[in-house]
Amino acid sequence: MQSKKNILVTGGAGFIGSHLIKLLVNKYPQYRIICFDKLTYAGNLENLTEVETAENYTFVKGDISSEENVAKVFHEEEVTDVIHLAAESHVDRSISNPSQFIETNVLGTTTLLNEAKKSWSSVENLFYHVSTDEVFGSLGKEGFFNEETSYDPKSPYSASKAASDHIVRAYGHTFGLSYVISNCSNNYGANQFPEKLIPLVVNNIKNSKPIPLYGTGDNIRDWLWVGDHVRAIDEIFHKGKRGETYCVGGENEWSNLDLVKLLIHLTDKHLDRKEGSSLGLIKFVTDRAGHDFRYAVNSRKLMEELSWKPSLTPEEGMSQTVSWYMENTEWMSRVTNGIYMDYYHKQYLKR
Ligand code: NAD
Ligand code: DAU
Repeated sequence: MQSKKNILVTGGAGFIGSHLIKLLVNKYPQYRIICFDKLTYAGNLENLTEVETAENYTFVKGDISSEENVAKVFHEEEVTDVIHLAAESHVDRSISNPSQFIETNVLGTTTLLNEAKKSWSSVENLFYHVSTDEVFGSLGKEGFFNEETSYDPKSPYSASKAASDHIVRAYGHTFGLSYVISNCSNNYGANQFPEKLIPLVVNNIKNSKPIPLYGTGDNIRDWLWVGDHVRAIDEIFHKGKRGETYCVGGENEWSNLDLVKLLIHLTDKHLDRKEGSSLGLIKFVTDRAGHDFRYAVNSRKLMEELSWKPSLTPEEGMSQTVSWYMENTEWMSRVTNGIYMDYYHKQYLKR
């Protein structure tokens, strides 16, 4: 039996946060799970309808950059632990508006850390910082990131996440705050906001719209099903060594072009279209500024110390994901409303 905890999950209404909350609420009825989220364009309470009436779940609207909001939720909810996912998460938006990323990812994380430092007196209280493999920069054709890799962030997004990782470690070193950090590769699955490659592509195939591929489509990402990422977070939260870092990846590298071809195959099949009939939608567009070439993650430490491994094959995961978007067209219609279309036009129309 686990001890009683009041866990603040920041960014819980976003893509990964909502999957994590569903796992925690169902698996640990003895914990109170508090979703703390500003509900930016990326936050969506519809992702959490499955747990909204659960007795051990509460939603609190708030901004991690507001000292007042953060102090209030810590005191009213008697927060014992934080799993911190709230962030601006999209690289393209960090290129058009870097300041928002510094505000949320750097200053917001610091505001949370200050409150944790003030409120907690025991090493039992844990600050879990959820981060990205992008802090390590860009790989060439060979090699993998691991826990020893030097930081070399290249985009305003990854630089803001790298800064927040360093600040978390500094609070651990200087003030004795108990923390753990994980750096994960690209996630995919249900409920991902369609600014990210996979839901954007599936939605465009369905609507017979051009599929924008940046540059040559040769850039490589390592994809992990979101359900496996949140299982890793659960393991690390409970059993990870305090003051350490864990790399999380899918051992599942795809060039963007090959991945898009797979998504075309799966989506056309789902829609009973002729095999490959959407291939003509692929449109090579101006590259992302400073586009990292390749990410690949070595998760040996997590696998060996905590016995974690991905549960789905890439084929199973991608197929399930395409089916989810095909079967949840109302969710997609609601999130691709006016604000999304403004973003989409600015991002893609003149590309
Ligand atoms: P997301 O953009 O889907 O969700 C972010 C959530 O944070 C939203 O619910 C948003 O409303 C909330 N938020 C933003 N600013 C806030 C603020 N000031 N105060 C409170 N809430 C705020 O992001 P995601 O893809 O679910 O990523 C979650 C975390 O995981 C991020 O920290 C990201 O860096 C990290 N991560 C993401 C991936 C990935 O592939 N998506 C991979 C590795 C790590
Ligand atoms: O590696 C982990 C990171 O993965 C997370 O930290 C980020 O939060 C998450 O957004 C993701 O970053 P990427 O930039 O890799 O993901 P994105 O889905 O934006 O892009 C994936 C690849 O596809 C990348 O090489 C850029 C390319 N791309 C993306 C879009 C949106 C295109 O070719 N066309 C597009 O329209």
